[in-house]
Amino acid sequence: MSHEAKLELLRQKLAQAAAPAGEAAIARQHERGKLTARERIELLVDPGSFIELDAFAVHRTDAFGLADKRFVGDGVVTGHGTVDGRRVCVFSQDFTVLGGSLGEVFAAKICKIMDLALTIGCPIIGINDSGGARIQEGVVSLGGYAEIFWRNVQASGVVPQISLIAGPCAGGAVYSPAITDFILMVDRIAHMFITGPEIIKTVTGQEVTFEELGGAQTHATKSGVAQFVAPTEADAFAQVRRLLSFLPSNNLDDPPATAADDDPERGDDSLIDIIPEASHLPYDMRQIILRVVDRADFFEVHEGFGGSLLVGFARLDGRPVGVVANQPAVLAGVLDIDASVKGARFVRFCDAFNIPLVTFVDVPGFLPGLDQEHGGIIKHGAKLLYAFAEATVPKLTVITRKAYGGAYDVMCSKHIRADVNLAWPTAEIAVMGPQGAVKIIFREEIARAADPEARTQELVAEYVERFANPYVAAERGYLDAVIDPARTRPLLIRALRTLDGKRVGRPARKHGNIPL
Ligand code: HXC
Repeated sequence: MSHEAKLELLRQKLAQAAAPAGEAAIARQHERGKLTARERIELLVDPGSFIELDAFAVHRTDAFGLADKRFVGDGVVTGHGTVDGRRVCVFSQDFTVLGGSLGEVFAAKICKIMDLALTIGCPIIGINDSGGARIQEGVVSLGGYAEIFWRNVQASGVVPQISLIAGPCAGGAVYSPAITDFILMVDRIAHMFITGPEIIKTVTGQEVTFEELGGAQTHATKSGVAQFVAPTEADAFAQVRRLLSFLPSNNLDDPPATAADDDPERGDDSLIDIIPEASHLPYDMRQIILRVVDRADFFEVHEGFGGSLLVGFARLDGRPVGVVANQPAVLAGVLDIDASVKGARFVRFCDAFNIPLVTFVDVPGFLPGLDQEHGGIIKHGAKLLYAFAEATVPKLTVITRKAYGGAYDVMCSKHIRADVNLAWPTAEIAVMGPQGAVKIIFREEIARAADPEARTQELVAEYVERFANPYVAAERGYLDAVIDPARTRPLLIRALRTLDGKRVGRPARKHGNIPL
């Protein structure tokens, strides 16, 4: 064969790899409202940066008619490229080939790119669109999945792992995304579940649609499985690129600092006006976060879930930080099961990847109730406490208003080793709110009073004067300073700079035992 013929053969094979199941299959994918595996990668990485691996891999199975169905690439596109100039490893499942189903070779391709990501220390982004285990390949497919799961666990806390769900993701296949750090689902296209509607109907008699069972909205608001929802695929890839802009490539790198484009000394006299004078009234903690961080840029994580706690990424003086904040506008900012679990996972992610934590506190306590107690608020709340206590990244805390009871301790207090604890003069740090407190400690006195209501109000005023302020905590050094809210941003930035060289030793152990 001449050189020219050999080159021609290569060109033919590459053309086959570009559309392994043919143009009609691509058209069907588009009719389903979905992009192809390759179009997705193009939207994710910098133009022209993608380098594909194993484009010619094919499966080795002859069973159940697969001998006649050998598609170049075997249904998954793998390789690496750059996002904003930084290397990422990617796999993108190709639904046009055997429904994106995973067999031995398909799994080996994913494992190879995951191994590369761990070797060079770069994020792994998985784009999922698959009918699950390739039924014709039997147990080999299950082995392939398990090899991926094992690598997900090895990579956890070493390189960021992001799962984008852009089609079906069912059965045990959901466990790879579940182990990764972030799941983003494309609305009305992505579905995740362990067992589908038909089996649920057979086993339990319940009738449920795919959307109700495992659609993006369900997982973003009810189960908490997904941190992000995107209305379109284009938006999904834009969100992943934005998320990556806050993250280091691996656990040995610092998060990427950008040139500071917001004055680090910028004060804001309007901050105190966000807090209502009457301390039982709600306000939107987002307004405080937006005014403090660089250019009002706050990338919220898990926006639709556990709404009484806000978590997300922002920058201070160009440096990424993880923000955790009670949200008094939702359930008065209480910690419930969902908020605790959401916060704990975010705090652990930030700690694993050297992202300093900035915590804004306005918390009346843990949510009372039978559902919460029976649902295990004790162990779930303990997760947040554990996560803050174990974190060794710089930890900065600002108490804007309430910090009551156990929730005061949990929300990154000095006692669990926050580095810098600040409070606004509007802060109330106490075992509980004044109304509840006086009813317990002065029950008999109130009962004996000629006018119980008037006496209650007197006692409440006394309690507020004595305890519902930041100064008792400041006297003991539980706070480093009580500050004018206007100075919050400059003081947080100075604290971050001070903590640049923070190093913490930990006792030798295999691993801790976070209450799961
Ligand atoms: C082999 C599969 C497949 C699979 C789909 N296909 N899933 N081939 N193994 N798991 C093939 C179909 O036969 C079809 O081939 C093509 O992919 C497209 O599928 P359609 O059904 O036409 O597409 P659609 O109507 O969009 O439905 C998509 C679907 C459905 C919801 C994913 O295909 C489906 O229910 N598939 C089976 C899902 C499943 O039960 N998987 C096993 C789960 S158990 P042709 O040639 O006709 O185009 C599992 C365990 C993992 O995954 C365990 C890990 C530990």
